Amino acid sequence: MSEKRITILGIESSCDDTSAAVIQNELILSNVVANQKVHEEFGGVVPELASRAHQQNIIPVVDLAIKRAGIDRTDIDAVAFTRGPGLLGSLLVGTSFAKGFSLSLDIPLIEVNHLQGHVLALFIRENGIEYNPPKFPFLCLLVSGGNSQIILVRDYLNMEVIGQTIDDAAGEAFDKCAKVMGLPYPGGPHVDRLAKEGDPNRFEFSRPKIPGLDYSFSGLKTNFLYFLRDQIKENENFVEENKADLCASLQHTIIEILLSKLKRAAKETGIKEITIAGGVSANSGLRNALKNNAAKYGWNLIIPKFEYTMDNAAMIAISGYYKYLKQEFTAQDTVPFARTQL
Ligand code: KG4
Repeated sequence: MSEKRITILGIESSCDDTSAAVIQNELILSNVVANQKVHEEFGGVVPELASRAHQQNIIPVVDLAIKRAGIDRTDIDAVAFTRGPGLLGSLLVGTSFAKGFSLSLDIPLIEVNHLQGHVLALFIRENGIEYNPPKFPFLCLLVSGGNSQIILVRDYLNMEVIGQTIDDAAGEAFDKCAKVMGLPYPGGPHVDRLAKEGDPNRFEFSRPKIPGLDYSFSGLKTNFLYFLRDQIKENENFVEENKADLCASLQHTIIEILLSKLKRAAKETGIKEITIAGGVSANSGLRNALKNNAAKYGWNLIIPKFEYTMDNAAMIAISGYYKYLKQEFTAQDTVPFARTQL
């Protein structure tokens, strides 16, 4: 007799993407993401506009996710939602929707920590694609617009942050430095593209001296800003004339900072199962550097599919599935939180 399959609807609305996904056990049935273009002209996410856009998007996005999954909403066993961290107004939209959905169908409500979701995205299974999830224990370098952490993952729901940024995140360093070069928001992908044509050793930027496994990116950001300001005084076309080299050197520095602590974490814990998660893990230079280090140090490196590294609801749905198995349900009076640890 076949085991009953658990169907989970996941909702993600922590920042500027409204997303809904359906998962059956670990198998993904649908993952719909609506990006919000409204922030582009402001060079960053405007929280009030983000919550309004979530409000408009949430019903059509959930509707489409259920249709694409080829199921009926009465097939859903539980609804999982991002409780935090994120923008409070944005989180409130997903949280309130999930509460209403759970009440109307009389199914359990499951809160998910957004950061845990990024890590558990590594366990998403796709039809027709070889399934290669990491084995416990493993290390995950979680790098996004809001976080830079090294996480020791002992089990699906047992994770410990062993290193993290004390100020800016790696994605913020990419985006803020890109902004001073006049690149569109978010700047990370533009820096990545331009870096391919530049010399990574042309300019030297400062590296933090932070003890242990923690990160810091604010010094690099200030150093980059002052360097450009001084160069522009001499030559007003400095950025235009050197954009590719600036991007390549900046990216090279960020990658070296990230990898120095990851290598240290691998050495100190003796763990060779290494994974990466979060939006910055799309960076091609970072992926190449990780592959080189994996070959050098004998790591088993697992890099998730691009669409599951960015903010998405599939990662929330799969986290909900593991919590469902442990019957870890959430009360209706639960409120979202803007800041939290794993
Ligand atoms: O995980 P994510 O979608 O959202 C947050 O939780 O923040 O990550 C977004 C971040 C942005 O900072 C963006 O610039 C960065 O990921 N990013 C990249 C690349 N693609 C996205 N950074 C560097 N290179 C990329 N190719």
